[in-house]
Amino acid sequence: MTEWKRTHYCGDMGKTYVGQTVTLNGWVNRRRDLGQVIFVDLRDRSGIVQVVLDPEVLGPEQFALAERLRSEYVISVQGKVMDRPEGQVNVNMKTGEVELHVSKLVILSEAKTPPFHIHQADDVDESLRLKYRYLHLRSKELQDTIMLRHRTVAAVRSYLDGQGFLDIETPILIRSTPEGARDYIVPSRVHPGEFYALPQSPQLFKQLLMIGGFDRYYQIARCFRDEDLRAERQPEFTQIDVEMSFVDREDVMNIMEAMIVHVLAEVKGVKIDTPIPRLSYQEAMDRFGSDKPDTRFGMEIGDVTKHLTQSEFRVFADAVRAGHVIRGINVKGGATFTRRQIDQLSEQAVAMGAKGLMWFSLEENQVRSPIAKFLSDAEMQAIQAELDGDVGDLLLLVAGPWDLVSEVLGRLRLALGKELGLIDDDLYNLLWVVDWPLLVYDEEAGRYMAAHHPFTAPLDEDIDLLEQDPGKARAKAYDLVLNGVELGGGSIRITDRKLQERMFAALGFTMEEAHDQFGYFLEAFEYGAPPHGGIAFGLDRLVMLLAKRSSIRDVIAFPKTISASDLMIEAPSRVHQKQLDELKISLKD
Ligand code: AMO
Repeated sequence: MTEWKRTHYCGDMGKTYVGQTVTLNGWVNRRRDLGQVIFVDLRDRSGIVQVVLDPEVLGPEQFALAERLRSEYVISVQGKVMDRPEGQVNVNMKTGEVELHVSKLVILSEAKTPPFHIHQADDVDESLRLKYRYLHLRSKELQDTIMLRHRTVAAVRSYLDGQGFLDIETPILIRSTPEGARDYIVPSRVHPGEFYALPQSPQLFKQLLMIGGFDRYYQIARCFRDEDLRAERQPEFTQIDVEMSFVDREDVMNIMEAMIVHVLAEVKGVKIDTPIPRLSYQEAMDRFGSDKPDTRFGMEIGDVTKHLTQSEFRVFADAVRAGHVIRGINVKGGATFTRRQIDQLSEQAVAMGAKGLMWFSLEENQVRSPIAKFLSDAEMQAIQAELDGDVGDLLLLVAGPWDLVSEVLGRLRLALGKELGLIDDDLYNLLWVVDWPLLVYDEEAGRYMAAHHPFTAPLDEDIDLLEQDPGKARAKAYDLVLNGVELGGGSIRITDRKLQERMFAALGFTMEEAHDQFGYFLEAFEYGAPPHGGIAFGLDRLVMLLAKRSSIRDVIAFPKTISASDLMIEAPSRVHQKQLDELKISLKD
């Protein structure tokens, strides 16, 4: 029984097929009855084509079948491709010049009325869409994004294959480590009371592959992190994971930016100028108040501290005395903001931890501001000059510790950039952020944590800071940022056992703990470890940006909710008592 089998895809139908007999398979997107004749929009992954079911052509038995058709029935139709009659050409449809006049219809599968219309899924509750994900997947949006994802992966693979990278799998059942995010753990039946962990990334394995002599590795790797979720985070996600031997930072960044340029050209036809600009972490924070700046618009942060060292205004004097900074941004044209709008900005700043937000509205003949009266003319002029203030602008200032001020202004800048429509959605602005801090102090844990991960090498000139002033040490790390989203991050690795031990010591590990956790890894350094480094890109985030989506759930075929559940298969779920017994696990109530 092969007579129902497809000869062509629906979306390929067009003028060149007129007069040919073809067989198409697909879903009934819509059925319309016009007089005696039934019209069906037939859909497959390539698109939609109009098919005509005419009782005169089909005969009574076949036409009776046609009358049974409903949305989402799966059918096969054979017939002749014809020009649409005069006046019925649909220029908005790829196949809109033709239609298929069916001579044979087979119903392959009937369908219940779906819980939502495939093309109006956006109007229904997300939980319903996720429960019936396979129906939502039929929509044009999801078909497009999932196919875009495929093309992205294909472009990545073809680039890396061409550069001599080997695709090597690493284990999914591994050992739990205390660093980083929380692990997902998996109990072992054979070793009761012991657990595997799912990998947060293949980090150690890819480094061991370098020590194992493979020189250039990549993997489209599934990673698992039990962390608080947001629009751009999923508990399981995919990395484009890369590692290379006998390289320094420049080599990794050059080859990786060439890969991203290749992907953007292949998938989106976008041409990116290289080299991709680089900013140090310090400069990114100083100018944009973010370690992943969106450089599609200006509104850069300016520092006015030096102009206010003698200020009599208490807020400024206190800040200067405490060694804090006073910085601001210029909202061009913002003098039209109402008092209410400015109050809202102040509230946002305070909610982020600022003591307050100072503002100056530069009007034709005056500066409107609650604090202008406390400043000298020279101070006011210096602030305006530093922030490029012109008549019509609104200047916003925050005083406080450097990191807080950067963050507050960075977030205000981003919110204002969006609100005022300053961001050009057609741009793809790529940026490397380099010279990251190696360690950051975690107040809660009462110790330093690796800013990236514990295997990242410090800058050569900063090695001794590991003991002297750990917070000041910078890392041989780099992040690639696209339109204000962290696409990927990596580093040159430590390959010297002594240095790796010093790093663990800086992280507050005792030697015993370090050996207990990472003994096999430290030992590997003693058998000839090549200099190496690598990077991992978030594939989901990359595709999200290429597809111009705001959530990575839209580019994952079967995503989880914000509370890490799969609503379709209802995971996580309880397991049978027998399974728990085998694992020697008893549950607390
Ligand atoms: P990192 O932890 O920075 O580095 O992760 C690399 C990239 O993975 C993406 N990513 C995520 N995407 C979706 N959901 C998540 N929960 C999530 N977490 C991370 C981001 C991020 O930039 N082993 C190192 C890389 C290396 O040093 O080579 C690592 O995993 O886009």
